[in-house]
Amino acid sequence: MELVKAMENPLSHPKIFNLFLSVVGGGSRSFTTLVREYIRPDNYMSILDLCCGTSNILPYLEYSEYIGIDLNVKNTEHCRKKYADKRNVHFINGDINPFLRSNEKQFDIILFLSGMHHFCDADLISCLRNVQRVLKPEGRLITIDGCLESDLPLIAKLMLKNDRGKYVRIKDAWIEIVSSVMPDIKFSIRRDLNKIPYNHIIFYT
Ligand SMILES: C[S@@+](CC[C@H](N)C(=O)[O-])C[C@H]1O[C@@H](n2cnc3c(N)ncnc32)[C@H](O)[C@@H]1O
Repeated sequence: MELVKAMENPLSHPKIFNLFLSVVGGGSRSFTTLVREYIRPDNYMSILDLCCGTSNILPYLEYSEYIGIDLNVKNTEHCRKKYADKRNVHFINGDINPFLRSNEKQFDIILFLSGMHHFCDADLISCLRNVQRVLKPEGRLITIDGCLESDLPLIAKLMLKNDRGKYVRIKDAWIEIVSSVMPDIKFSIRRDLNKIPYNHIIFYT
């Protein structure tokens, strides 16, 4: 039965997802780039990681407290075991939207890594509005997602169009939707983060 489920949606299994990432993702070089150039964490900062998956970014972060939330219970169980020895680290199994709506705590940094392309426009807008509420006044949001552009190599287009997330957007659509909620947000387009040709859009404040 487990094998049948794995065949239906192999990437929902933490180990298969991590194997996939080790083949096509950028590994430690891309995590280091993301952390050094965009997240810029410090050991006094509280971090909320939305759609944390298997939380592969965690070993690269400094923080005073880290909370990861993911809908997939296999991911949160995997993370709780993998990071059992880490202090001030918590994993919540659940949907980020109700969590963001009801959460009273504010964070220094909110990460939303490879998560926004799982949300339709209306849900993403509502989610980003709630992110603003949950960020401290000087807090920062950092996101990264796949981004379609017309001049991409075929392999990048195929990867992006076949993503599990149904809402991989073209660059202008990403900018329009994210800046409709956060007009001052900056963005960066990166083609150098994965081992195979790919295109990322990073939003950061
Ligand atoms: C592509 S993975 C990214 C995982 C991780 N952030 C990373 O960068 O490796 C997307 C994750 O979003 C989670 N997810 C999708 N919709 C969600 C929702 N509404 N609430 C919480 N997690 C969600 C999925 O379970 C999956 O683990």
